[in-house]
Amino acid sequence: MIVCHCNVLKRNQIEEAIVDLLDADPWRLIVPVQVYHAMNKRGRCCGCFPDVVDLIIETTAAYHQQNATPEPEIVSLIERVRAHVKVRVPDAAKPAAA
Ligand code: FES
Repeated sequence: MIVCHCNVLKRNQIEEAIVDLLDADPWRLIVPVQVYHAMNKRGRCCGCFPDVVDLIIETTAAYHQQNATPEPEIVSLIERVRAHVKVRVPDAAKPAAA
């Protein structure tokens, strides 16, 4: 199915470009211009961009479902920050001796 008539881009071509971008950085924010740039194309009328945004959302959700991080590998940012603060400033929380 053709999504972009100006560039004659099919749905699967756009999805592949989105997956390539996610492979490079799974947590990046992707916008249509990045997808088109990755395919050496550019928006002309940009009438397809709302559909491309929908494809980005669908493809990104599917990508993360397929590549779900196993529970033991998930690290809490808050716990890491707390551990870092304890190591860097162990005495900072203590009141000064009078
Ligand atoms: S339909 Fe995609 S740029 Fe015009």
